[in-house]
Amino acid sequence: MVKKFYIETYGCQMNVADSEVVAAVLEKEGYEFVKDIEQADLIIVNTCSVRENAEVRVRGRLHHFKSLQKKRPEILIALIGCMAERLKDELFEQEKNIDIIVGPDSYLQFPKLIKEAEHGDNAMEVELSLTETYKDICPTRIDDNSISGFVSIMRGCNNFCTYCIVPYTRGRERSREVQSIVNECKDLEARGYKEITLLGQNVNSYNFVDGDKTFVFHDLLEIVAQSVPSLRIRFSTSHPKDMSDDMLKIMAKYDNICKYIHLPVQSGSDSVLKLMNRKYTKDWYMGRIEAIKKYLPGCGLSTDVFVGFHGETDEDFQDTIDLMKDVRFDLAYMFKYSEREGTYASKKLPDNVPEDVKGSRLAKLIEIQRETSFESNKADLGKTFEVLVEGISKKREDQVYGRTSQNKVCVFAREDFKRGDLVNVKVVECTSATLIAEPVL
Ligand code: SAH
Ligand code: SF4
Ligand code: F3S
Repeated sequence: MVKKFYIETYGCQMNVADSEVVAAVLEKEGYEFVKDIEQADLIIVNTCSVRENAEVRVRGRLHHFKSLQKKRPEILIALIGCMAERLKDELFEQEKNIDIIVGPDSYLQFPKLIKEAEHGDNAMEVELSLTETYKDICPTRIDDNSISGFVSIMRGCNNFCTYCIVPYTRGRERSREVQSIVNECKDLEARGYKEITLLGQNVNSYNFVDGDKTFVFHDLLEIVAQSVPSLRIRFSTSHPKDMSDDMLKIMAKYDNICKYIHLPVQSGSDSVLKLMNRKYTKDWYMGRIEAIKKYLPGCGLSTDVFVGFHGETDEDFQDTIDLMKDVRFDLAYMFKYSEREGTYASKKLPDNVPEDVKGSRLAKLIEIQRETSFESNKADLGKTFEVLVEGISKKREDQVYGRTSQNKVCVFAREDFKRGDLVNVKVVECTSATLIAEPVL
């Protein structure tokens, strides 16, 4: 009999939010969430399929669980999330120690599936939904000492970038009711949270119709900013094709909206962007960056970019380098292209850039970005920022760490500061990854 469950989460912030939904669904049925895997009768792994190595990692973990199962054969293992949706019952064949498979839109069925698995059957539900937003579930905050929470505002994706598996694992785009989002934000505020991040694969295409009224993303952002004035508000991810000046104006208008935008570019080459089906050009992207700089001077900026997509030439790669040098992102998440079965690219656009070329291009980008991040941090020397303290620094017990509104990590003397405090600090030193500061009294 399953009484206690443990969850491990891989992949994006949306998976972190989903694990909290899953925990809430199971707690409602009387199951108890435990932080120690040794105590659990049910181990849940919330998985990601975005790149091959995300899946390889999960398979490694499943292998590791075999030793736990040897000691306690009654333990059940559930694989949920994007890998569950992508591979479905194939997974029961490949990974013999899995008992339950649940896709991202089927978490309300989880308790029923546990019952089936307790009878010794393999249990699976992977139906995608056009409407499920889990709007009536108040997520269990797994990290109960936390001050920063995720609030999912939409699910799925309709963009079908040719390389990307997400539209297949998460299904069609749907937006969650405004009131249910506001209620969750208020609940977090009442519980002492200090920061929320509104989540979706493309938050800029948020669109909720309520009678004769339609709410788009900047409407929602303004409503949330007004509803929870004491909270810092962040959001992710913005898509360049849909990021409007109206959103930038709302960000400028409210002090509690953090001045930070994550705007994935993917490539700086127009021909690659076209093959990726990103629906914008390099010039369009640069225009969006200019708009950010106009409405929000000093706004923190980050991006996602990957090298080695189908047909990427040295010139295409040079375009990406030029763009990175032009924009000067504070931070970039950089990857090598990984072909995903089932996508348009896997059928029509061969993965034809050699692995060693991908490797050397990625290494070059990482080096350029490291320098740019260092320059960007050096430009903050002497400036004052408000930092939300997240905890004691892992490297030095006499320091605390937190983030500026621009999302830069900052450390400073611990003194009497504690998690959740907002502290004004002046930057006195930096590395490429961290601002080192002193509290300003
Ligand atoms: N919805 C977001 C990103 C979601 S996936 C957006 O559109 O920007 C996160 C990042 O993973 C992407 O921005 C992209 O840089 C990377 N990614 C997605 N599919 C990939 C693939 N097949 N190979 C390598 N990187 C990929
Ligand atoms: Fe994937 Fe593109 Fe959708 Fe982002 S917008 S999740 S990259 S298909
Ligand atoms: Fe991964 Fe699924 Fe998120 S593929 S990036 S966990 S939406």
